[in-house]
Amino acid sequence: MLTVALILVFLSCGILAWRRRNRNKDEPPPLPGALPLIGHFHLILGNNSQLWNGVKKVAYETLNAGGVTSVYLGPRTVYFVTDPDDCLKIANTCLQKDIVYKFLKPWLGEGLLTGDLQIWKEHRKLLNPAFNQSVLDEFIDIFNRMARRLVKDLEVEVDKGPFDQFDYIQPNVLETICLTALAVDFSDESLLNSEYINALENILKYVVERFQKLWLHSDVVFNWSFLKRKQDECLKILHNMSNTVLKKRKAEYLNNTLHKGTEDATKGVKFRPFMDLLLELAIEKDAVSDREIREHVDTMLFAGHDTTATSLMYTMLLVGSYPEVQKKLFEELNNVFGDDDRDITKQDLSQLVYLEAVLKESMRFYPVAPVIIRLLDQDVKLRNYTLSKDRACFLSTYGVHRHPVWGPDFEEFKPERWLDFETLPKCPTAFSGFGMGRRVCIGKTYAMMSMKITMAHVFRRYRVSGNHLLMTTKLDVLQKPVSGHHVAIEIRKNNT
Ligand code: HEM
Ligand SMILES: *[C@@H]1O[C@H](CO)[C@@H](O)[C@H](O)[C@H]1NC(C)=O
Ligand SMILES: *[C@@H]1O[C@H](CO)[C@@H](O)[C@H](O)[C@H]1NC(C)=O
Ligand SMILES: *[C@@H]1O[C@H](CO)[C@@H](O)[C@H](O)[C@H]1NC(C)=O
Ligand SMILES: *[C@@H]1O[C@H](CO)[C@@H](O)[C@H](O)[C@H]1NC(C)=O
Ligand SMILES: *[C@@H]1O[C@H](CO)[C@@H](O)[C@H](O)[C@H]1NC(C)=O
Ligand SMILES: *[C@@H]1O[C@H](CO)[C@@H](O)[C@H](O)[C@H]1NC(C)=O
Repeated sequence: MLTVALILVFLSCGILAWRRRNRNKDEPPPLPGALPLIGHFHLILGNNSQLWNGVKKVAYETLNAGGVTSVYLGPRTVYFVTDPDDCLKIANTCLQKDIVYKFLKPWLGEGLLTGDLQIWKEHRKLLNPAFNQSVLDEFIDIFNRMARRLVKDLEVEVDKGPFDQFDYIQPNVLETICLTALAVDFSDESLLNSEYINALENILKYVVERFQKLWLHSDVVFNWSFLKRKQDECLKILHNMSNTVLKKRKAEYLNNTLHKGTEDATKGVKFRPFMDLLLELAIEKDAVSDREIREHVDTMLFAGHDTTATSLMYTMLLVGSYPEVQKKLFEELNNVFGDDDRDITKQDLSQLVYLEAVLKESMRFYPVAPVIIRLLDQDVKLRNYTLSKDRACFLSTYGVHRHPVWGPDFEEFKPERWLDFETLPKCPTAFSGFGMGRRVCIGKTYAMMSMKITMAHVFRRYRVSGNHLLMTTKLDVLQKPVSGHHVAIEIRKNNT
């Protein structure tokens, strides 16, 4: 009953909005296919793979329409942008996040990903030093150790036919994030278990469901819904994890300063890893609260591991789908390492040029975060249109990665395009796998280092085969495959 009433209210709002639409002559053209009252709402209905097909369709139609369109979600007008220059302008003018990010807030709070503008500005400045190159260099040993662990774990799948590599990559990457950024070792405990991973998967599904049910966008209505209760169940598990991290590390920190003395502990070290920096800010400078630390920990756990693991999964599958690419990758690895199974060093990383091209091309081809959403806190004047204040704007990385600036072969997987600086698109947002403008991913350099080291170890040992055309994807906040069983592996012989 309540649902029916809400839908009726929602439809009458639709009628009013319909009459008011396009008052502004500079508005971008409407996306084709709007129906009376519901607008383009039908494009985002259905399960997560149908939703993703709808969003992809919107991206292609926006590209056809020149790069900017207005989309009507029932009573709500939003914008959809695929033009790289316009995206950059919007991303740097309006830094406030919207819609889906608000739905993530009960979990991630004021962490960097979802935080309100004022808090974000302050905390991003405080936390940037934790991702300075000099901190990241300290992680190389851990990256190597964890990559070797992955190679060893994968051994059971050799010559066994197709399997889901994500099952191996995800726990490995999650543990790597914990060991590096958070400096906690869970190997002897059961906290990093499937319960946490399940809760994470579920909460992302609930957030998408809420996005599709426009009437649940309001907190008042949502608080009464069954979905809210299911979400609260997940939150218990997720927050238990981050609270445990916080308690454990705080005790260690206090114990350390007690033994070494505050002076020694903070002097001489300019850059500290993320968690140490946070604790120092909280304990010595009183600049962040326990709740804020917990929210930063939750954000790092999610933003750091799910994205990296999914990108690695796509990379393995794509390399497995293109034997020519794999051959070139082997050649580069042979040139740099020969027969040697040694650790990958900082110097090696700068020589793995083709591997880096493969990773970037994979992220262009299958962007893990295919749309990012901003709230326009002012009118934004673009080259051809003016966007109105207070509306949400969808910046489509998926669309930007298929914009004509990439040339006619944009639908092809071609790592070679990254090797010729001259022919690469000039706009910095043409590649936006790590986001756009000033709110770009804080872990970008971390992620490239960790992914390069992991993939170098994997491809030094294994030949991978697969066919990415057999995979369909869905939108679970991140772009994820619908089902597993993607690659098969065999041991490489005689360096070929
Ligand atoms: C391949 C791996 C990764 C991908 C594809 C990726 C992608 C992204 C994207 C697209 C954004 C922008 C989101 C938006 O504007 O709404 C972002 C932001 C962020 N990422 Fe990453 N990321 C990766 C790895 C990491 C890692 C390893 C960490 C941390 C250790 C991390 C932490 C963050 C944080 C904290 C933000 C929010 C930044 C802010 O708003 O200030 N990410 N990431
Ligand atoms: C989504 O629905 C379509 C059509 O009903 C179905 O073919 C597909 O398997 C579903 N996908 C998922 C992930 O449930
Ligand atoms: C702006 O308008 C010009 C001329 O109609 C068109 O060629 C171009 O694609 C448009 N660009 C954007 C981003 O809308
Ligand atoms: C690290 O910090 C130093 C000194 O503050 C700065 O010059 C350098 O640009 C930083 N590096 C990165 C990658 O942020
Ligand atoms: C909804 O519930 C949350 C707690 O679960 C509460 O913090 C929030 O104020 C509620 N919002 C409304 C509008 O009732
Ligand atoms: C939190 O996790 C610990 C360790 O797994 C467990 O003993 C405890 O019961 C959990 N608490 C809640 C509220 O789930
Ligand atoms: C505290 O630090 C001392 C010396 O570093 C160590 O021996 C002890 O085990 C630590 N205690 C705890 C509870 O971590």
